[in-house]
Amino acid sequence: MDAEKFSNVRVFQDLDAMVTAAAEIFCLVADQANLERKRVLVALSGGSTPKGLYKTLATPPFKDRLPWSRIHLFWCDERLVPPWHAESNFGQALELLFSRVNIPEENLHRIRGEILPEQAVEEYRRELEIYSTGDLKWPRFDLAFLGLGADGHTASLFPGLIDPQEKSSPVIAVTAEYQGRPAGRITLTPLVLNGARNLIFLVAGRDKAYAVARSLQGLKDPVMWPAQRIQPMNGKLLWLLDGQAANWEDASK
Ligand code: 6PG
Repeated sequence: MDAEKFSNVRVFQDLDAMVTAAAEIFCLVADQANLERKRVLVALSGGSTPKGLYKTLATPPFKDRLPWSRIHLFWCDERLVPPWHAESNFGQALELLFSRVNIPEENLHRIRGEILPEQAVEEYRRELEIYSTGDLKWPRFDLAFLGLGADGHTASLFPGLIDPQEKSSPVIAVTAEYQGRPAGRITLTPLVLNGARNLIFLVAGRDKAYAVARSLQGLKDPVMWPAQRIQPMNGKLLWLLDGQAANWEDASK
């Protein structure tokens, strides 16, 4: 299977095995960050793939192993909807994870999708600065989870456009078309994501195989394949795939 020729790709039998591995990595990273810095800075993504991870983290042994009081959760992106909306990335994580573990509310640094985009960008930029590392104006995340759309988008970096602000701003507002509907989003830019110590793509499903294959191999085309813009400057990049997302032979059919 082509996917396994990449040293930073792990292929799992199914989604459950993939998210269990992701939860294990979360524990290892959290233990080290807690030991070294007494806090753990994590950025989450939305969509359906992380649901399995949230449910796994909310049940033993992970629920009891993680130092929740030291973990600070941020978002790689958020939809421009209120937290109670079905499309809210924060709302999803609240229902599946935060409401089931002892994480202090002040450790949840959501993007307020219910306010004007420019206000949400500025507010989140200030929040990131509070947790900045060294001379940066944003945190060096210990762990960032990213997904991948069938069109190749990751976080809310969509194919076909690179906002010039990506090179200078940690957070930008995006309006793009995805799954037939306009996607008003707020997203972290590669400026922040590439500073993470550990970046993990969690991708499952046959419909993602082509986007994974094109993101990882073939022509360098970071405009059409935004995941190619995710290159940690001084950190680890790992792709966790289920067998379907790693089955590239069938992908092009
Ligand atoms: C979002 C995510 C987005 C997601 C991909 C994959 O807000 O939707 O951040 O980038 O990771 O769209 O979504 P699925 O896991 O639902 O396939």
